[in-house]
Amino acid sequence: MSNTDIARIIEQLREGLNQHNYRYYVLNSPVISDYEYDQLMDKLIELERKYPEYFDPDSPTQRVGSDINVEFKQVKHKYPMLSLGNTYNEGEITDFYNRVAKALNEPFEIVCELKYDGASISLVYENGRLVRGVTRGDGTQGDDVTANVKTIKSIPLKIKGDYPAEFEIRGEVFIPRNKFEQMNRERIEAGEEPFSNPRNTAAGSLKLQNSKQVAQRPLDCFLYYLLGEDLPSDKHAENLEKARSWGFKIPEEYKVCGSLNEIFEFIHYWDTARYELNYDIDGIVLKVNDINQQKRLGFTAKNPRWAISYKFKAEQGYTKLLSVDFQVGRTGAVTPVANLEPVQLAGTIVKRASLHNADFIKSLDLHIGDMVFVEKGGEIIPKIVKVDVDARKPDSEPVRFITHCPECGTELVRPEGEAAYYCPNSESCPPQVKGRIEHFISRKAMNIDGLGAETIDLLYSVNLVKDVADLYSLHPMQLMPLERLGEKSARNIIRSIEESKKVPFPRVLYALGIRYVGETVAKKLAYAFKSIDKLKDATQEELTSVDEIGERIAQSIISFFSNEKNIELIERLKKAGLQFELKEEEENRVSQVLNGKTFVISGTFSNHSRDEIKELIERYGGKNTSSLSSKTDYLVAGENMGPAKLAKAEKLGIPIISEEDFEKMLQQ
Ligand code: IVH
Repeated sequence: MSNTDIARIIEQLREGLNQHNYRYYVLNSPVISDYEYDQLMDKLIELERKYPEYFDPDSPTQRVGSDINVEFKQVKHKYPMLSLGNTYNEGEITDFYNRVAKALNEPFEIVCELKYDGASISLVYENGRLVRGVTRGDGTQGDDVTANVKTIKSIPLKIKGDYPAEFEIRGEVFIPRNKFEQMNRERIEAGEEPFSNPRNTAAGSLKLQNSKQVAQRPLDCFLYYLLGEDLPSDKHAENLEKARSWGFKIPEEYKVCGSLNEIFEFIHYWDTARYELNYDIDGIVLKVNDINQQKRLGFTAKNPRWAISYKFKAEQGYTKLLSVDFQVGRTGAVTPVANLEPVQLAGTIVKRASLHNADFIKSLDLHIGDMVFVEKGGEIIPKIVKVDVDARKPDSEPVRFITHCPECGTELVRPEGEAAYYCPNSESCPPQVKGRIEHFISRKAMNIDGLGAETIDLLYSVNLVKDVADLYSLHPMQLMPLERLGEKSARNIIRSIEESKKVPFPRVLYALGIRYVGETVAKKLAYAFKSIDKLKDATQEELTSVDEIGERIAQSIISFFSNEKNIELIERLKKAGLQFELKEEEENRVSQVLNGKTFVISGTFSNHSRDEIKELIERYGGKNTSSLSSKTDYLVAGENMGPAKLAKAEKLGIPIISEEDFEKMLQQ
């Protein structure tokens, strides 16, 4: 191949991948499967590796970020990033409208937009290329986070069309709610602390010094403000539409309003419709549409006079803090939880609130008996946002974080750089031991039916099961005399324990509950090292060379295997007959019949459990997703599937297949 041929192929691949990125992340309507996308990407990576002379910092391959930690440079904003004046009621909106009308003394329009609750970002483009991404900072200067911004797939690295040579565009980096919940589920599974809310996580992610880590976070970005000397139009809304045509993700949800009434209609509509969005908003932004009018109105010291925000009322409850519990989880992390006098909030009765950690309690200066304000934000559990200090009784006691484990009395430790206190007695602290057993038997791990948290509690309390290996020496006769366990359930449990010996190695590895080793990581490790013995001997370097395994996971694995007790446990489990090696058919699982196909499963099945079907999909190279979209290749329909799902699949033209059809597919 000649040099020009190579250059042309590389350029075509980049162009193609950019288009697919745009269709997927900006338009939400991809035209190729993930598998086809990955194949194109692999081809490009390969060519760029072979011909480094064609390196391009804007290549789609560069979006994976870099593992090198960087200190951020401070960059001065060309146009200061001012904040908006806030209003909280309709009277203040009317005042704003009248002020603008009086100052302009001519007809004007107001663009109503949603107020996205994320982290603001300024992007600078020169000659159609993204040259800089900067955080708001103090409004005058911010951090140069270009490397991080480049990992956000909805932000174009190169744009198309009739754009000005130089301009700045501002917007909000955020995390969609469903992605946030998914990320937290995965963190909990891996024994990590869940993030508290999407906004802080988005802001924190932008400031990570390692862009490879940023690339793992499901960040997205809406753009809402175009600035520059040479803009296409002197109307804000027209500029947004232009920017959309260049490839930016401009929200559809805005309206050009000609009267106060229309503005109120917009506000009222979104005050309730906001709960149906897949991202958080905390209000509405009003902007004068005409840029010449904006200039005439100008700025105060802090805010533009041509724009204002209207903040929705956060749903707040006011109640009394009765006491604080300290809960110890499977990893030993201690979580403080507030017990509240029950209060009605956003349609539910709230009795408990998360207190996160010791620093949070300290920052609130919380006292027992305090009257507190609770809010439901993006979080699953409500949180205390403020203390009514005036209502505090003079003799009330401050909440003190415990120094010793409430379960086993061991002195707590706080590892450097972590917010949580831990009980270090992982070997015999009851909730840690029971938590590990519960994790071990859970469906995605060893799937031992008939054993639940209560039975584990019982078996633990009568000394029959002190660790997971003890399960394999249980006898039905030992179980039968126990409360609630009749002969039938005792036999079922033993059968189920026996069955679990067939569970494949990746799930056994996950079941061991190594910190940060969730389901996906366990699979990656199992396929990379093939057996527990090879994994045990792997060096930090060998571990981090596996895709998606970073220093922290590697460190946790090494520390797990350096504990003699864990080695002993594994030996006992090996003797019991558990799978600690990858079977040949599992090893050969890659590039099989379902490669690149995306599935949604719905309903219940007769030959397999839902989890088994999901596992089969993955084992044969397919991908599971939870909701139907134009990207779904098949809907596997079981009994009792919801009619809405069926209708949606039909509307999208997605083939609906039965369990039998699915089994036939695997046999192909
Ligand atoms: S325009 C001068 N539009 O709200 C006007 N801001 O306090 C600049 N925000 O820091 C901002 N949604 O992070 C604008 N549709 C929207 C917005 C928005 C959210 C944030 C932004 C800014 C803050 C203003």
